[in-house]
Amino acid sequence: MEDFYKELDRFIDSLEDKKNDYKILSFVVDELGYISDEVLNHIARKIDMFPFSLEGTIKYYPKLQKARKKDYVQICIGRNCYQKGLKEKIEEIRTKVNFDIDERNCLGKCGKNGKLAVGNKIYEYKNLDELEKILLSLK
Ligand code: FES
Repeated sequence: MEDFYKELDRFIDSLEDKKNDYKILSFVVDELGYISDEVLNHIARKIDMFPFSLEGTIKYYPKLQKARKKDYVQICIGRNCYQKGLKEKIEEIRTKVNFDIDERNCLGKCGKNGKLAVGNKIYEYKNLDELEKILLSLK
């Protein structure tokens, strides 16, 4: 995460308009998929704005809104996480739960097992049954 903050600071420093909070928050969503309180407060300090002003911007953009929800579910379908039948399993699970599931190409947590994120919490699963179990437990 320390590396991410360095990257984020570099991104902000590279902006012509350093208070372009939409661009900054979009960068966070593209990189992390989730806007945590910590990241929000870091940005607020860095660009000298109140966190509630950033929340105001978030409310205008569905992409940002989603990424602020603590129960926002994203499943990695990237090369390191992919298992045969994953896409079909996700479709099947979508019919059983009452929340949105987004797919991402990488959650930045590549490893041996498949990964999914709920808010800023990362889960891993060994097989598709385990993935289903995790998601059904969130209902
Ligand atoms: S490919 Fe899944 S976390 Fe990177």
